[in-house]
Amino acid sequence: MTHAHLTSLVLSLILLIIIVVLQSNGKNIKIWHMVLRASYILIIVTGGMLFLAAYSIPVSYYFKSILGIVMIGLFEMVIVRKQKGKRTDIIWIAFSIVLVILFVLGFTLPQGFDLIK
Ligand code: HEM
Repeated sequence: MTHAHLTSLVLSLILLIIIVVLQSNGKNIKIWHMVLRASYILIIVTGGMLFLAAYSIPVSYYFKSILGIVMIGLFEMVIVRKQKGKRTDIIWIAFSIVLVILFVLGFTLPQGFDLIK
């Protein structure tokens, strides 16, 4: 399941890059945005399965999951604000910070790959 979670979040990151590039070129992003939103479901479902797979759920899992949902919110904010021509620099900073925290948490928590231990 960790592989499915990783695959779906890599997929959504790639989709986000495609959307931002298309937006910068003034192209229509409607379909790509729909596909990205479908990939959120994969992230949430796989994340939810990892959450439920824990024998006893540690506090860090709640933190990881809430931050995961916040991350998805930031994905949307980056796209929608850019679409409306609003500033996105602060959102990108929050985006990077939350993404790094999620990766560190994801790889230090007990399931899946233990890169940092
Ligand atoms: C874009 C948002 C997200 C990112 C970037 C992210 C990132 C990660 C990463 C890198 C891992 C480690 C995978 C591994 O060990 O193989 C992980 C694991 C996990 N994620 Fe997420 N995640 C996101 C969203 C979510 C959501 C929405 C939930 C809950 C509904 C969630 C719950 C979990 C859980 C429970 C784990 C297992 C922790 C462990 O290894 O013990 N994640 N996540």
